[in-house]
Amino acid sequence: LNYQVPRTRKEIFETLVKGLQRLEYRGYDSAGIAVDGPNKTTTDINGNTICLIKKTGKVKALDEELYKKDTLDLDEKLNTHFGLAHTRWATHGEPSALNSHPHRSDKDNEFVVIHNGIITNYKELKKYLINKGYEFESETDTEVIPKLIKYVYDNRENDSITFSTLVERVIQQLEGAFALVFKSRHYPGEAVSTRRGSPLLIGVRSEHELSTEHIPVQYNSGDLQLFGSIFEIAPSDFSHIGLHVFPVFLSAHSAIIEHTNKVLYLEDDDVAVVTKGELSIHRVNRQAGEDPVRAIQTLQMELQQIMKGNFDAFMQKEIFEQPESVVNTMRGRICFDSNKVVLGGLKDHLKEIKRCRRLIMIGCGTSFHAAVATRQILEELTELPVMVELASDFLDRNTPVFRDDVSFFISQSGETADTLMALRYCKNRGALTVGITNTVGSTICRETDCGVHINAGPEIGVASTKAYTSQFVALIMFGLMMSEDRLSLQERRLEIIKGLNVLPELIKQVLSLDLKIKAIANELYQQRSLLVMGRGFNYATCLEGALKIKEITYMHSEGILAGELKHGPLALIDTQMPVIMVIMRDACYVKCQNALQQVTARSGRPIIICCEDDSEMTKNAYQTIELPHTVDCLQGILSVIPLQLLSFHLAVLRGYDVTNAHKSHSVQ
Ligand code: G6P
Repeated sequence: LNYQVPRTRKEIFETLVKGLQRLEYRGYDSAGIAVDGPNKTTTDINGNTICLIKKTGKVKALDEELYKKDTLDLDEKLNTHFGLAHTRWATHGEPSALNSHPHRSDKDNEFVVIHNGIITNYKELKKYLINKGYEFESETDTEVIPKLIKYVYDNRENDSITFSTLVERVIQQLEGAFALVFKSRHYPGEAVSTRRGSPLLIGVRSEHELSTEHIPVQYNSGDLQLFGSIFEIAPSDFSHIGLHVFPVFLSAHSAIIEHTNKVLYLEDDDVAVVTKGELSIHRVNRQAGEDPVRAIQTLQMELQQIMKGNFDAFMQKEIFEQPESVVNTMRGRICFDSNKVVLGGLKDHLKEIKRCRRLIMIGCGTSFHAAVATRQILEELTELPVMVELASDFLDRNTPVFRDDVSFFISQSGETADTLMALRYCKNRGALTVGITNTVGSTICRETDCGVHINAGPEIGVASTKAYTSQFVALIMFGLMMSEDRLSLQERRLEIIKGLNVLPELIKQVLSLDLKIKAIANELYQQRSLLVMGRGFNYATCLEGALKIKEITYMHSEGILAGELKHGPLALIDTQMPVIMVIMRDACYVKCQNALQQVTARSGRPIIICCEDDSEMTKNAYQTIELPHTVDCLQGILSVIPLQLLSFHLAVLRGYDVTNAHKSHSVQ
């Protein structure tokens, strides 16, 4: 905003597109921008107009589209400007230009918005606004926001109402999670941004070497204010929101291209307003005694590397994304204060599900393992019989299915042929069908009666990793939702919800073991076979770990139920056969110790994945991988990660090109 030297529209486009390109590595299905300038369809209101340009697919496609707009003068020089840019990964409504952001209030683009998160009460709001005569053009939850702000604006009590007051009124009506940025032709040169539940940060830069001392931060009549040469608001590191405010004093073009490492994290219900190059932040509902201070922080190198996608392979990047992806699965769905869990996509069918006779969980590969992993806790929380089924076998058996069954179809892609056929099979027999998928608009999404999007973000690596842990979390949330009014289960529910709250931190701790796991891979990579053994809540980890090893390292691997050891597999154990055992401190601990004794009695040299400070395990193991302890039914989320990392390192050491193992190469 307020350039010292006027910028051409072309330069503004370049900056916004460059910002989106920095986010490209995260994966997306469409992109869009909003800039000042006339749309073909718009008429000027006070000379202020906003042009929206959106496109499905790659940022490159959007970039090309920008230069096709014959009504926009690319060489026009602007003294002030505020632009929005966004890349989208669908959560409601299939990937399309109409469903992509920015979303608008009306065809004159009076208000435009970009959003990251989920609005869980969007159906109610949409119905209300349609009744008031507002017309919707997309299938997204986001679109209620620009419509709602226009509604508030159209019904304003006087003309002096500020942009930020409008935004504050809007967010009071929203439920769920959001990071939002608004632009309006009624407030030229202004932008308002706010968040609740979804992360949002502001990149801060000045022409001076920046440190906290150089930016005067004033605590001013209840508001925190920042003055100075602040000229860039960078994309939030975790959201896909890009917001650029151009420099107050810009001397070098490269200053725009380079991202600042100085950031300011907004907190829930902070409202940030940019007016003519000046940023101010205030609280929506400031509590008495609350002293808001938002310190400018310097990003750690590590985080910057993650932002740049500085990984060797998508699989590796996705493994390391898990602290973030499990949060995205829970976002807006679990209230950690009231211990309420609401899955918007199942809400309307909950009564019917509670009345059912049994739950049938169906999937293939990793998705099937997510069902195995959560079966026990679902039985406990729903008090219903739970069948877990491999889609192909389920179909081969012509399994009896009844109208009072509820069938779940778990699939990252939402397209796997066997899972889809099983869905049609159950539907024909009158069972309620529920989709648990990561891909909005996929066939399984469209054909099921209801469902849950796991929101793990695009999974590009051929071996499923973050989708597994997110499916796991989504199924646990389903169990929690089903047991909300069961008095006898409240203590258990509370323990699980607390466990979910700290899960991201624990995942980070497990990921910090990467070097140790790499060293173990170094010892194992020339072996022909690898057994993975465990039971109870961690049996699925063994199946999933073995599948990862097979799928990407081409090494034989088998997941063995420790309870079955004496019924055959023991014959394989000797000093030569590498064995990984998963032995956590849960109800199966003693039984697993028995299995361990049988292995050591045969001179096996087990590598044990166990809880921290378990001296009993350290004593008997050849090596240990020690994990933080959590609730028994969540432990499998942590115990699978060392095996994901191990399979990745084994594949690299065995000379396989994991970097090019993308899902597009293995369409089912
Ligand atoms: C393929 C992949 C597996 C995946 C399975 C199910 O076989 O190789 O890694 O788990 O499909 O995929 P879905 O998209 O249905 O979860």
